[in-house]
Amino acid sequence: MNTLKYQSQAVAKPYFVFAMILFVGQILFGLLMGLQYVVGDIVGGLIPFNVARMVHTNLLIVWLLFGFMGAAYYLVPEEAETELHSPKLAIALFWIFAAAGVATILGYLLVPYATLAHITGNDLWPTMGREFLEQPTITKIGIVVVALGFLYNLGMTILKGRKTAINMVMMTGLIGLAVFFLFAFYNPTNLALDKYFWWFVVHLWVEGVWELIMGAILAFVLIKVTGVDREVIEKWLYVIIAMALISGILGTGHHFYWLMTPAYWQWVGSIFSAIEPLPFFAMVLYAFNMVNRRRREHPNKAATLWALGTSVMAFLGAGVWGFLHTLAPVNYYTHGTQITAAHGHMAFYGAYAMIVMTIMSYAMPKLRGVGEANCNRAQVVEMWGFWLMTVGMVFITLFLTGAGVLQVWLQRLPESGEALSFMATQDKLAIFYWLREIAGVVFLLGLVAYLYSFFVTEKKAA
Ligand code: HEM
Ligand code: HEM
Ligand SMILES: [Fe+2]
Repeated sequence: MNTLKYQSQAVAKPYFVFAMILFVGQILFGLLMGLQYVVGDIVGGLIPFNVARMVHTNLLIVWLLFGFMGAAYYLVPEEAETELHSPKLAIALFWIFAAAGVATILGYLLVPYATLAHITGNDLWPTMGREFLEQPTITKIGIVVVALGFLYNLGMTILKGRKTAINMVMMTGLIGLAVFFLFAFYNPTNLALDKYFWWFVVHLWVEGVWELIMGAILAFVLIKVTGVDREVIEKWLYVIIAMALISGILGTGHHFYWLMTPAYWQWVGSIFSAIEPLPFFAMVLYAFNMVNRRRREHPNKAATLWALGTSVMAFLGAGVWGFLHTLAPVNYYTHGTQITAAHGHMAFYGAYAMIVMTIMSYAMPKLRGVGEANCNRAQVVEMWGFWLMTVGMVFITLFLTGAGVLQVWLQRLPESGEALSFMATQDKLAIFYWLREIAGVVFLLGLVAYLYSFFVTEKKAA
């Protein structure tokens, strides 16, 4: 039984499957680092902390990109009411991106980073060595090539088809993603300047254009599972993206407080980033509103749960935990502490990991030819996955926040002289790091349940 509206939507499936494989890798390296935090080296120096960190964060970004691409290949043709311009190109780009991704991760793991930089010609065009952007220059060029092919394919599809608000917002977000990535190629030797432009990628992604991608995917899934009129959802979508861009662009200033930038950034950054929680809050209102006003009972309960869950968790992680440390007088004390890590974890999971799982939950039964929804047993297991991962992440965030508050208390607040050193402080936080690791294991169990749900079928009566 094939339940796809357009056959070419099928290209989304390998993207989703590969995203999940990388997700597993990301979590295993997270847990490894969590252990290194409390017991030190446990793998005989084979995988140093800095390498594990790079693998953890790069796998995260790459699996989210695979997820966004899968989402786009699935929803753009359906919205445009036409087949994808070139399914062959989509599959070719999948293999190129997957091969480049695997080669890069193996490069991180198998050779020292400096050697990797040397053999990939970093001297010719230095772009390596910055958090999230550690990829060799040649990999970065590969990413741009894949992105161009991807945008071309989607653009041609939209041009020949129906132009909906969802498709326009999705395309704007994806083009923005590609454009801001270009700052990864600019690597000034002055460290302050380097950091300044680094945030053009990192901040303008997660607090700018990625929000458009999230809003578009959420709108698509909500229309499908609730049957609410497109016009209603589109109005919300416009309000959300306007708020996201108005607050998020100048909100970049919350990273310019301590970079030797002019002092007015402390005002601009504080004021505009304080508005940033609003679009996330609007997404909560909109998701719950639409589900309450639903015109149909969609059999895919799990997809509805993910759609509601991502709005709440994104608001908590980005909105609440972001606001916590965004005002300059607070950030003066919390900058670069475990508070930052707490926020980074919940925001990335709540907004972007969960929105990818939302569209996967909706689309995978159709992509796999199961029908509108998985059987009840599979959905129950999937919801166990949802809750274990989400509760695991809530506790990871709470324990890191505890660690962060104590860190500020011991290391940052006391007058110099009485303040504990960085490492002496870290020793006092061990209990929180142990608890974080336990919460991380709960998260892993949730991920296992989630993946297992793809293999659960209805029990046949004997
Ligand atoms: C889904 C959206 C978001 C994601 C994925 C996200 C993720 C992150 C990450 C990973 C970092 C750490 C970057 C580093 O390595 O230094 C960070 C820093 C920060 N985020 Fe967010 N964030 C989001 C939204 C927000 C919002 C809405 C606010 C404000 C209301 C905010 C405020 C901050 C601040 C102030 C910092 C700097 C912390 C420091 O000084 O150490 N974030 N964010
Ligand atoms: C489940 C168990 C997990 C554990 C034990 C874990 C552990 C860690 C550790 C130890 C770091 C390095 C912190 C440092 O530099 O001191 C880190 C960084 C990071 N992890 Fe995880 N992680 C886990 C899951 C996740 C998930 C699910 C996400 C997002 C979906 C995520 C996103 C990140 C990000 C964005 C950073 C960089 C944070 C920053 O720069 O502040 N992690 N993680
Ligand atoms: Fe930011």
